[in-house]
Amino acid sequence: MTVNADSLNQFFAQVDKDQNIYVERLREVVAIPSVSSDVSLRPQVFAMGEWLKKELTRLNVEYVIRDPGTHEMDGHTLQLPPIILGYYGRDPAKKTVLVYGHYDVQPALKEDGWATEPFELIENEKGELVGRGSTDDKGPILGWLNAIEAHQKLGLELPVNLCMCFEGMEENGSEGLDDVINAEAKGWFKDVDAVCISDNYWLGDSKPCITYGLRGISYYKIAIKGPGRDLHSGVFGGTVHEPMTDLAYIFSKLVTPKGEILIPGIMDDVAPLTDAEEASYPPLDFDLSTLHKAIDAENTIHDSHIDALKGRWRYPSLSLHGIEGAFSAPGAKTVIPAKVIGKFSIRSVPNMVPEKIDQCVVKYINEEFAKLGSKNVVEVECLHAGKPWVASFEHPNYVAAANAVERVFKVKPDLTREGGSIPVTLTFQDALQKNVLLLPMGRSSDGAHSINEKLDRSNYIEGTKLLGAYLWEVSGQKF
Ligand code: BES
Ligand code: ZN
Repeated sequence: MTVNADSLNQFFAQVDKDQNIYVERLREVVAIPSVSSDVSLRPQVFAMGEWLKKELTRLNVEYVIRDPGTHEMDGHTLQLPPIILGYYGRDPAKKTVLVYGHYDVQPALKEDGWATEPFELIENEKGELVGRGSTDDKGPILGWLNAIEAHQKLGLELPVNLCMCFEGMEENGSEGLDDVINAEAKGWFKDVDAVCISDNYWLGDSKPCITYGLRGISYYKIAIKGPGRDLHSGVFGGTVHEPMTDLAYIFSKLVTPKGEILIPGIMDDVAPLTDAEEASYPPLDFDLSTLHKAIDAENTIHDSHIDALKGRWRYPSLSLHGIEGAFSAPGAKTVIPAKVIGKFSIRSVPNMVPEKIDQCVVKYINEEFAKLGSKNVVEVECLHAGKPWVASFEHPNYVAAANAVERVFKVKPDLTREGGSIPVTLTFQDALQKNVLLLPMGRSSDGAHSINEKLDRSNYIEGTKLLGAYLWEVSGQKF
């Protein structure tokens, strides 16, 4: 089947015409603070699920709900938000494409340094739509729905059957999702021919890309317990083993300031760099200034942009995230915290395996702690783990995405990997045995997870065209 250029051009024109409606729709969903990691905001994650269900009903999308049950978080038993499985079109003569997105977002407080209220979408003079979730991942979810709506307005059928999976726990370890996917591999997902996920970013700010790899993640907490209560450092300093001192020592043994991981065995399974891979870096549209712009600083470890990309994509990294129980308020309180919980994570790459990472981490921390001769008690726990993912980009699914990019943006996309993690990507690939592709909507400078997260209006609108064009292009591929 060749792609009907007339239909596509009509679709593009409709998207241009309706762009203000799409922006208002994004405003509506950004206003729902669906933060999955905040106990008090869990009802808002459900509210966002309700919003989506209503929208799917309005668009005549058939859907079912899978309830993943409950989980424990911060001492509470909480209901997990619904996993929403949709279907638009069930024509056996058409291909079926599965799209995934997450409707939960990262936490955001104005006090963190946002220039505006994080849950009120504003459009600034640069055409940036600023608000939590704009790029990660509410804009891309709306992109798929906007594309359906535009086709309906034109009286055009979608060229494929569109199968959907939307979850509300991605930012918090996707609890319960793998079980649902495995259970539905021969059920709701049985006719799926290819998978597309829009939940990542361009490599820079001007050139689109398609993405074939993600790092995995193993997230840990180290709890160190000492005295039975917080103590006065004037009275007890010099007399007790201090949990925070122990933790600072352990933290310093995990990673060097240059990013080298110090845990023995961690690097053993890292796949060697191939010649083909080495050759794939220089043509990419990327330089250090792109990286500096994305971080608003110039404190990058590497002097070469290629080494920086390797450090981000194809080698593991270890980041220290925070300390629960530590004194963190302004002022000079002279406390000795009784118990502290340090958090860190390791981004993993092929062929590292979570079980082996766990073994190395737990053994090493216990050994290092033993060397301290501290009478405090340490406990190491892995909070969640997801494996790295790499797909074969020769597949027609990738050809379709590249063609769609060329149609909308008139350039050939870069082929990229990512340093972040979307564990469900590998679950889909393994459970459905189908090709999975990442097709980003936003830019590298969008500030996902950071303050002032944004999605440029042009990325949102051209991105909606891109997702729709991709569906047309997949329908034209033979596989
Ligand atoms: N959209 C990101 C994934 C991502 C991050 C893609 C960076 C490309 C670059 C996603 O929402 C996310 O943040 N995932 C978490 C997963 C974790 C909690 C299991 C992540 O990577 O920290
Ligand atoms: Zn995301």
